[in-house]
Amino acid sequence: MKLFNIVATTTIGLESCVKIELKNLGIENVRVENGYLEYEGTAETVIKSNIYLRCADRVYVKMGEFKAFTFDELFEGTKAIMWEELLPVTANFPISWVSSVKSKLLSKSDCQRIVKKAIVERLRNVYKVDEIPETHSKYAIKVQLEKDLATILIDTSGEALHKRGYRKKHLEAPLKETLAAGMIMLSSWRGDRFNFIDPMCGTGTIPIEAAMIAKNIAPGANRKFISEEWCSLKKELWLKVRDEAFSGEKESIIIKIFGSDSDKKAIEIAKENAIEAGVEECIIFEVKNFTELEKSDERNVIVTNPPYGERLMQDVEVEALYYQLGKCLKANHPESSWHIITSYEAFESAFSKKAEKNRKLYNGGLRCYLYHYQNSKKKL
Ligand SMILES: C[S@@+](CC[C@H](N)C(=O)[O-])C[C@H]1O[C@@H](n2cnc3c(N)ncnc32)[C@H](O)[C@@H]1O
Repeated sequence: MKLFNIVATTTIGLESCVKIELKNLGIENVRVENGYLEYEGTAETVIKSNIYLRCADRVYVKMGEFKAFTFDELFEGTKAIMWEELLPVTANFPISWVSSVKSKLLSKSDCQRIVKKAIVERLRNVYKVDEIPETHSKYAIKVQLEKDLATILIDTSGEALHKRGYRKKHLEAPLKETLAAGMIMLSSWRGDRFNFIDPMCGTGTIPIEAAMIAKNIAPGANRKFISEEWCSLKKELWLKVRDEAFSGEKESIIIKIFGSDSDKKAIEIAKENAIEAGVEECIIFEVKNFTELEKSDERNVIVTNPPYGERLMQDVEVEALYYQLGKCLKANHPESSWHIITSYEAFESAFSKKAEKNRKLYNGGLRCYLYHYQNSKKKL
């Protein structure tokens, strides 16, 4: 059985979440670097990675890695890769993405041209043809140069994995689905105990991702991937993995998930998104200010993404809102754990409580911190 070197990329800060997800899929021996997880697997592993990973951005097949100080070395190194193992004679293979960091080869357009030329030459020799027609399935190639080490990857996902397919509409500043899933994983909530609350849910990303976790809905089961057209990843295998994913879904859940927001329009969209995601019966959405949250002495899990101030509000308003949020959670949810993401540096002082720990995460390039308050010795 052919083994692939597989690379899953993720937002910096979520590597440990993807590693746990891989472990749950039975994948061990994962090499982890900043935003990058590499492991070996079969065609089925490639498919499962796309369908099941909640926190990864994309899944690639790594074709090769070699030192390239000159364009000649880039050409020869690329040509030496056994492209024919994956690319048929009709493959359409754009060099979609080139990056160069601390490397001698700086010109991205030259790297693009040389890699393309090397693959064409290899395929022409192997398939003994004069021309590569590029009429069939797409194999989008990514070239990364870092400290003169060239890594050549092929994208197996196509659209990034945060595009689950349920978000038909959105408002300003929605959270990426992959980041929302990561925040939930980092809160230690697993969907089988403790009610879940997002009191500023906007268009519902966090409650919807929570419901998908609770119902064991595989995030990629209902979308398409670029590699579904590849001859090396058989259609029957995609069908089998999807069938397994669908049969693993739970009919109903025992805990409650609440999403509320002061913006009526946001809640309307959240409800529509939840229907698209197939989790509308699991979430109670309400239009309300977080100051109206009901008091509870139970242990709930609160995960939320309040306004940051970057685009949405002035600093004084953000400070006032964080102060109110702190006051409200301390008074009404003293036993719950709270997990709050923001890019606002002075969050803890505005909120008037120091977090037990925090984690740096990036929301679309914006550096944020996820602040954790466990508030109780009771384990989640
Ligand atoms: C950054 S957005 C949340 C985006 C959301 N995570 C999503 O994916 O769509 C912050 C949200 O806080 C809501 N909000 C601001 N002040 C609020 C308040 N006092 N009570 C409830 N919601 C509030 C806003 O309406 C906005 O939807």
